[in-house]
Amino acid sequence: MTYNFNAGPAMLPKEVMEIAKNEFLDYQNSGISVMEMSHRGVHFDEVIKTAESDLRKLLNISDNYSVIFYSGGATLQFSAVPMNLLLENEKADYVLTGVWAKKSFEEAKKLGYKVRGILDQKENNYTVIPEIKKSDIEEGIKYLYITSNNTLYGSRYKNFPDHGIPLVADMTSELLSREININSFACIFAGAQKNIGPSGLSILIIKNSYLNKQTKPIPVLLDYSLMAKNKSLYNTPPTFSVYIAKLVFEWCLKKGGVGELEKLNEEKANLLYSFLDKSEFYFAPVEKNSRSSMNVVFLLKNNSLEKNFLEEAELAGLHGLAGHRDVGGFRASIYNAMPKEGIESLINFLEDFKKKNS
Ligand SMILES: Cc1ncc(COP(=O)(O)O)c(C=O)c1O
Repeated sequence: MTYNFNAGPAMLPKEVMEIAKNEFLDYQNSGISVMEMSHRGVHFDEVIKTAESDLRKLLNISDNYSVIFYSGGATLQFSAVPMNLLLENEKADYVLTGVWAKKSFEEAKKLGYKVRGILDQKENNYTVIPEIKKSDIEEGIKYLYITSNNTLYGSRYKNFPDHGIPLVADMTSELLSREININSFACIFAGAQKNIGPSGLSILIIKNSYLNKQTKPIPVLLDYSLMAKNKSLYNTPPTFSVYIAKLVFEWCLKKGGVGELEKLNEEKANLLYSFLDKSEFYFAPVEKNSRSSMNVVFLLKNNSLEKNFLEEAELAGLHGLAGHRDVGGFRASIYNAMPKEGIESLINFLEDFKKKNS
């Protein structure tokens, strides 16, 4: 049995892959593949509408928000967010909990927006999500930007800042893994390649009151108002990726929705963290209150065994456990699609490797 712990592109539910395989050449007796269909035809119209309405159900998204299927990955949203949300002389603060927040902040700054990076956690090697006090935030800012789950370092916001300031969140590595109150956010975006579908697609959820306000010209494909007005079909969207996302949303609903997935995710993550915390051979560096249930980062106390560990893990069918090159060590990405059996296999391997090497 093989388990894929890659951080992204990551494992998708097997059931979804089976349906996609069976429908690949002939989508619902149409005689052609989803990939070959017009994005304005009846079949794809149903695909994208179902995807949107299922996502709305899963996250309890009201009609006050627009949902947009975007191509370009999450990084494109680093540019699009300030372009759409910041009007003349408006400001925003970015909480620097890791590389992705920093990249987003640097992009907004480069484009000439009035943004500040705050509470940089570099000194802690990004192992802590800071408490954000009202006094940390500049008065009158338009939004507070956060990366809700830090994929590289395995940290996440247990609770979101609640100072009455609109939040903009990059939820790439955790959207659909836990319940959230959409109404606290001005805008949420997520690259699809963790919990949703193929890379290149991203999802944007934006409060309608932020649309149609920008007076400066914006490149057409970055213009949220235009994309919302055209229901993601201003140009040709990544049709096959939207189709896979639709299948994943259906799978999430079948699993009982986000609340049920969250329970399972907590159970999976706790199993692994409690094993690591008891171990004298491995350790998890992220502060307990800041730990991600999607990306579990861990290290060996004796790091000279790292190379052997990775080679043996691959041979045991446990793929993608290498930590990010900026962090080192190991990272088990255990998104929605990872079954509990995958965590149990990993723990068995960790036990065996320890016995052989201590
Ligand atoms: C939290 C977070 N934000 C942004 C990105 C960048 O996503 P993309 O490669 O789709 O641009 C990633 C990629 O893994 C990520 O984990």
